[in-house]
Amino acid sequence: MIPTSLRWHGNAAGQPDAGHLELVDQTLLPTRHEWIPCRDVDTLVEAIKMLRVRGAPAIGIAGAYGLAVAAGEAVGDGLSPEAARAHLLARAELLACARPTAVNLRWAVERVVSVLAGLPENTSAQALAAAALAEARSIHEEDRRLCAAIGRHGAAILPEGGVLTHCNTGALATGGDGTALAVITTAWEEGRRFDVFADETRPLFQGARLTAWELVERGIPVTVLVDSAAAQLLRTGRVGACIVGADRITANGDTANKIGTYGLAVLAEAHGVPFFVAAPSSTFDLSLETGVDIPIEERAAAEVLRPLGVPAAPEHARAYNPAFDVTPARLITGIVTEHGVIQPVTRDNVLKMVPVLKMVPGTKSRSAR
Ligand code: MRU
Repeated sequence: MIPTSLRWHGNAAGQPDAGHLELVDQTLLPTRHEWIPCRDVDTLVEAIKMLRVRGAPAIGIAGAYGLAVAAGEAVGDGLSPEAARAHLLARAELLACARPTAVNLRWAVERVVSVLAGLPENTSAQALAAAALAEARSIHEEDRRLCAAIGRHGAAILPEGGVLTHCNTGALATGGDGTALAVITTAWEEGRRFDVFADETRPLFQGARLTAWELVERGIPVTVLVDSAAAQLLRTGRVGACIVGADRITANGDTANKIGTYGLAVLAEAHGVPFFVAAPSSTFDLSLETGVDIPIEERAAAEVLRPLGVPAAPEHARAYNPAFDVTPARLITGIVTEHGVIQPVTRDNVLKMVPVLKMVPGTKSRSAR
């Protein structure tokens, strides 16, 4: 099966036989592969919060389609043009706030909102729905192309030796073939052969459940390790490079990614192993100078105390469960983008490589939490 994260089912939002968004429920993988329909925004927001859809680019694309879903709600309720716009803005804010760390979510939602804002005031709910869907589709299509470009640029600089990755950055996490994982799969498709290691990525096991599943589906051998085995693996010399994705990268190159990434970068430096980040320009937040200002999502204690639903700690223990950490730019060898590789990772090089396309003025990227 070719892994994928989401699709629009049907042709038009807001029509009597309205289309809707469908997501692969990633909480069920790798044992079950099921699509869930999102016919209303509440279902989609729940899916984003519960990580049924996850990964920075994928939640951005889902959020963009969410505006088409919201416009479908407005059509269904027979809202006037003015009421439909108010409805869309309220739903946009709900979607953009569903998770705070990955900047792609707010970026994509704001992009659709700004397209709608450019339409005449008396535009009907049906026409708003069509415009929202068209913009969401182009964000989705663009992400496919960006993933392919990231895969090519990254494969060209991937050193010899095994590759260690963290979390899931593949087709499930994006609208295309992935970011860091696309680098690995592209190099493999180009005929290179190397060991691929995937950190299991506690507490939600995105590495073991999702990355390993994607690689197995693609016929690429993968070795899963517990996160705490990374130091020992690096010490053996079997890893030529670490490569991970990103949820938000600031102007100086500091990078928020799945919890455990920072520790891995420290280990890579200690063992002289290059540490790469791969991300599209929609993951850069140039409104933030450094990673200190990135909002870090904290999630439910149950994810730590009852991993995969199995009790693993005394009932009354507390848990510390940040979903992300920030890796300082100085620990990152290079950042692979769709435009090429930022190396060394300096503010000047980031600003040279990444176009200032980013947030619509007045958005809340700084204070999402
Ligand atoms: O909490 P998640 O599973 O959404 O976290 C995902 C990650 O941290 C990924 O590494 C990141 O979004 C990059 S996906 C191409």
